[in-house]
Amino acid sequence: MRTRLTEMLGIEHPVVQGGMQWVGLAELASAVSNGGGLGILTALTQPTPEDLEKEIRRCREMTDKPFGVNLTILPTIKPVPYEEYARVIIESDIKIVETAGRNPEPFLPPYKAAGITVIHKCTSIRHSLKAERIGVDMVSVDGFECAGHPGEDDITNFILLPLAARRLTIPFIASGGFGDGAGLAAALALGADGINMGTRFMATKEAPIHEKVKQAMVEASELDTALIYRTLRNTARVFRNGIAEQVLEIEAQPGETKFEDIRELVQGVRGREVYSQGDLDHGIWSAGMVVGLIDDIPTCGELIGRIVEDAEKIIEERLAGVTSARESAPKWRQAANESA
Ligand SMILES: Cc1cc2nc3c(=O)[nH]c(=O)nc-3n(C[C@H](O)[C@H](O)[C@H](O)COP(=O)(O)O)c2cc1C
Repeated sequence: MRTRLTEMLGIEHPVVQGGMQWVGLAELASAVSNGGGLGILTALTQPTPEDLEKEIRRCREMTDKPFGVNLTILPTIKPVPYEEYARVIIESDIKIVETAGRNPEPFLPPYKAAGITVIHKCTSIRHSLKAERIGVDMVSVDGFECAGHPGEDDITNFILLPLAARRLTIPFIASGGFGDGAGLAAALALGADGINMGTRFMATKEAPIHEKVKQAMVEASELDTALIYRTLRNTARVFRNGIAEQVLEIEAQPGETKFEDIRELVQGVRGREVYSQGDLDHGIWSAGMVVGLIDDIPTCGELIGRIVEDAEKIIEERLAGVTSARESAPKWRQAANESA
């Protein structure tokens, strides 16, 4: 498959692995890139900019294919030296950056000067258009289905993606709810240049998280996510576990929810321990609705290969069959075809 995404990034398949806090380590990013997609390291998973530099080096030892770095700017409990992380990205000669969270404008001049392709993750058309206007190279459009932060508009990809196709000039990647070949074919049909996946890549052999978490994802249904922090207008889609239920209960109490009320429950370090220890109820961990479509734990290479192969089959066989089935078309359709 060739799209503007594969051409611009120099990758074989139009499949990207989005930044994932605590999960986007070199093991995963390199496996995705070796599988022909674009792997992305998550900058803030590294405690310091120096650690990010080491992680980039480690990833280079594991793949000679292109990979990117995600730098997410979101409200955090502790202040983060974002400029220092950006400096490391540039000095390490990274050529693809995924930005997310706040407006990436202040970071664009140094990224551009370094020849970096910037993919900005947005959850709305107005933010996608703004990103295009300020000069990002591509956007990843994250629909309401996605894991992490879907924004506050609750618009699904069936509306967001055709709108992006109508209004954007730059290439865009469909993100949120993708996990199989039908999803990729649909994303291309809706005008996207490829797909970005988070949740699906967690349930792969190389994802550096506990087997129990992967197994929980295989067993989960599409109903097993929850939207927390709605009351704080910083909505996050997470796996619906005991902690998420407790947060929802606190948020449902009368009066304004203060972050202080839930701080203890949602500490990042507790989420991180879910991934390392496999205790599913220890903290908050992100997952998207696509968990309902996950039923195995393949390698990243197998997963990407299967997604692309299935999408091609759908396009070349099922969809081509639909438009070429003149003989078998009902009489009214044949008449319409002949008069056309
Ligand atoms: C465990 C996990 C952690 C994530 N952390 C981040 C993050 O730090 N920064 C970011 O921009 N997106 C983050 N995301 C969102 C993904 O990059 C991607 O946009 C999203 O997962 C797409 O939706 P999907 O999960 O339905 O594929 C995270 C997703 C998951 C599953």
